[in-house]
Amino acid sequence: MQGLCYRLPLMKTDGLKEVRVFAPATVANVACGYDVLGFAIDEPGDEVVARLSDEPGLRITKITGDDGKLPLEAEKNTAGVAALDLLKHLGMLDLGIEMEIHKKMPFGSGLGSSAASAVAGAYAVNKLIGEPLTKKQLLPFAMTGEASADGAWHADNVGPCLLGGIVFIRDNQELDIAQLPVPKNLWAAVVHPDIEILTKVARGILPTEIPLANVTQQIGNLGGLICGLIQEDYGMISRSVHDVIAEPRRQKLIPEFYQAKRGAMSAGALGFSISGAGPSVFGLCEGEESARKVGAAISSAFSKVELGNQLYVSKINQTGVRVVR
Ligand code: HSE
Repeated sequence: MQGLCYRLPLMKTDGLKEVRVFAPATVANVACGYDVLGFAIDEPGDEVVARLSDEPGLRITKITGDDGKLPLEAEKNTAGVAALDLLKHLGMLDLGIEMEIHKKMPFGSGLGSSAASAVAGAYAVNKLIGEPLTKKQLLPFAMTGEASADGAWHADNVGPCLLGGIVFIRDNQELDIAQLPVPKNLWAAVVHPDIEILTKVARGILPTEIPLANVTQQIGNLGGLICGLIQEDYGMISRSVHDVIAEPRRQKLIPEFYQAKRGAMSAGALGFSISGAGPSVFGLCEGEESARKVGAAISSAFSKVELGNQLYVSKINQTGVRVVR
């Protein structure tokens, strides 16, 4: 990561005995920015509690909301891996810490579930030990946590989950990232249909080579979306939220995808696409009222074929991970 400069902790714990944090769900890709663009929403999200303990080392003592799927071993758990990587970097692996993880969003949902746990793990421990690192400096540790779950290295969920807002990644290896301006009235309607798609599968169906014409179109749309965000030009945003690379291949994994898309666009969405690797989908909207209409239209496309779904209507979340009481 460029220009990294750590403030080493003077005090080990800053007097905090326990900290509880919330890390929000994220919409990765935002149609035209495969692996390089993502934004955070207000809910759902994961919670992690970290507290000091007399027993040396990091232990995960409790996990809820995971149907028993997640390992309690810290070195096998995304939140644990991120926290351990941070503690190792700071030379504090012996510090006694107990961690609880409360999963509040489904796995394989396209909402950045593993990224949220990894971000929450690193952020909670950093807070507990007196915040030696800034949020941005936590990025590589949270990335290590997420990569332990899906094996891929892309910051389009971790970046916005950590920092909030809309995050652009110029280079995933260097973790060279920037927060983009967020137009005041930009909202999202995100719908999660009750099916699971493994990120690995959704990545595996993408071709390794893309026709030049598609690349040109996608670059134009990505540039257009960034310009639209900077200039608060909703027309430009709307013309740019198109994905000619991943969406045409991945839509077949999502039942009723085109019905949902038609519904969203007729209800006034600026654009519509797959959230991350899916199955969640999102409509980008100008204003809350529009987002509610668009959300209802998407949800009804799934409900018509009796596919259960959850709707989240949210302004772009500008805070990212945060301490909660
Ligand atoms: N950019 C990633 C993908 C997000 O589309 O595969 C998945 O977490």
